[in-house]
Amino acid sequence: MAGDRFVRPDAEAVARGAAEAIALAISRAEGEFHLALAGGTTPKRTYELLAGLPVAWERVHLWFGDERCVPPDHVDSNYAMVRAALLERAPVAASHVHRMRAEDPDRDAAARDYERGLPPALDLLLLGLGPDGHTASLFPGSVALRETVRRVVPVVGPKPPPNRLTITPPVIAAARRVVVLATGAEKVGAVRLALTGEVDPFDCPARLLRAAEWHLDRAAASEIEESAAGSTASHASRRPPRTSR
Ligand code: 6PG
Repeated sequence: MAGDRFVRPDAEAVARGAAEAIALAISRAEGEFHLALAGGTTPKRTYELLAGLPVAWERVHLWFGDERCVPPDHVDSNYAMVRAALLERAPVAASHVHRMRAEDPDRDAAARDYERGLPPALDLLLLGLGPDGHTASLFPGSVALRETVRRVVPVVGPKPPPNRLTITPPVIAAARRVVVLATGAEKVGAVRLALTGEVDPFDCPARLLRAAEWHLDRAAASEIEESAAGSTASHASRRPPRTSR
């Protein structure tokens, strides 16, 4: 069953809708809420808006879907982006922020260490989408896409910086809810392939996310909007897909 497809006018509306969806998910949960954050640039605005919403941060644990192998204060660090957009604006306890130590020289040990702490099932996994169909740091053709046992591995990818740690497909499969953010015309091809193409996830990793909940702007959804308008809402909601005007 396909997940909900939310198509909104622009990136700001996507960021607001995603922030509200995350805050609502946390409010509806009881006890600890394990939220894994996406890297890159798309989710930054979502995190800034999320920081301004009423969230029971004392119940939230923040994880990362991937991290670049750079220091945590480096301009390319996903943690640095999250710190500026969210951690400096919301009262998240330092003990609840689970950073990937991707800067460690022994990347394999850092991956194994992170995996040991990662909960068996994330409550909400937020993911982005690259123009080539990658998600987290699972790039087309990567051996990590064949991983069925390890949940975090070091990889080398084509998107600079090349050395990264990433979650693997088992983590995506185990997550209770997966939310994908994609905005901008440069993502239109990857969105179409991921959501409608007969393509192998080895060639288009975002194909693994077909059943996830997608938050798109019109630019990224332009080649699937017709089918998105007619797509089946997730079994949980049975609501007609929202395409806010
Ligand atoms: C990363 C991200 C990556 C990102 C996509 C989209 O660390 O690079 O995890 O998967 O989500 O590349 O990046 P943008 O949001 O910058 O377009």
